[in-house]
Amino acid sequence: MSGPSSPLRLAVTGREGQVVRALLDAAPAAGVTVIPLGRPDLDLENPASVAAAIAAARPDAVVNAAAYTAVDQAEKEPERAFAINAAGAGAVAAAAAGLGVPVLQISTDYVFDGTKPAPYVEDDPVGPTGVYGASKLAGEQAVAAATPNHAVLRTAWVYAPYGKNFVRTMLALGATRDELRVVADQQGCPTYAPDIAAAVIAVARNLVTRPDEADLRGVFHMAGSAETDWASFAEAIFALSAARGGRAPAVVRIGTADYPTPARRPANSRLECGRLARLHGVGLPPWQASLATCLDRLLVET
Ligand SMILES: NC(=O)c1ccc[n+]([C@@H]2O[C@H](COP(=O)([O-])OP(=O)(O)OC[C@H]3O[C@@H](n4cnc5c(N)ncnc54)[C@H](OP(=O)(O)O)[C@@H]3O)[C@@H](O)[C@H]2O)c1
Repeated sequence: MSGPSSPLRLAVTGREGQVVRALLDAAPAAGVTVIPLGRPDLDLENPASVAAAIAAARPDAVVNAAAYTAVDQAEKEPERAFAINAAGAGAVAAAAAGLGVPVLQISTDYVFDGTKPAPYVEDDPVGPTGVYGASKLAGEQAVAAATPNHAVLRTAWVYAPYGKNFVRTMLALGATRDELRVVADQQGCPTYAPDIAAAVIAVARNLVTRPDEADLRGVFHMAGSAETDWASFAEAIFALSAARGGRAPAVVRIGTADYPTPARRPANSRLECGRLARLHGVGLPPWQASLATCLDRLLVET
């Protein structure tokens, strides 16, 4: 573990995930050391691999940012999704507890069924509509059962200049098509992975430096601080792309019924993030500002 003047050491699960990469990028300026732990050394499908890998990192806190994130594929592979997202998360939390350090579990808006006509708060009833959401909810419960020294951070609609996400998919499709059909009746809060990284680091610091404060533990919503729908998000992506010399295909607004997927998506994924602001002093920027930063990195700085 780090001494009083050495940087905070964060062990993070996964290697190439959007949140892991954002944490690695943020680490030097934030004065933290991020130790990514991934396969084959740490495999969430093999709980026996977890404790030794985490102990070897000598962390001050552990961030479980790895997950089985293929939402539609999970419908065909429920055992695998649960092994990684539920049992694996529990193993990470147990390892953190064994070392006496806090664990930050990244979770999802998909724990809700999406029928609430307003943004979700942490205490709203859960009701996942698919295997992925159910497995992530089981992960939240496994973490809570393993240790009280945890923060479950539910985020949503994650995007970054790297990895697999809606922004990169839209830009790739828009490079060759003049028109794109995008769902307009699902609402949510797009969240920029570098904003997640900054928030995770701030929460980790709070948990490490204030070990006796129960209010800092539990479930928190941690998403970009403005809402939209997928079609409007796509329109914003292409407006910013056009302003940077990129292509701007027309966006045709369609309904969920016109775009069937194996896993049903919640119609309302909006997360109310006041608890994180009140108790941790952490708020994420509105997605519009972060999207512009993301497109600068994708289209201007290359
Ligand atoms: N993406 C979203 O829109 C979204 C929305 C809400 C919540 N979340 C949650 O946010 C967190 C981060 O998501 P993300 O978008 O950064 O994910 P991502 O880009 O899909 O990356 C998934 C990560 O999980 C790792 N992983 C998968 N199976 C593993 C296993 N068996 N053992 C060890 N590592 C494994 C991958 O490893 P490799 O590095 O080896 O590929 C990768 O680092 C996840 O908990 C996810 O559920 C995501």
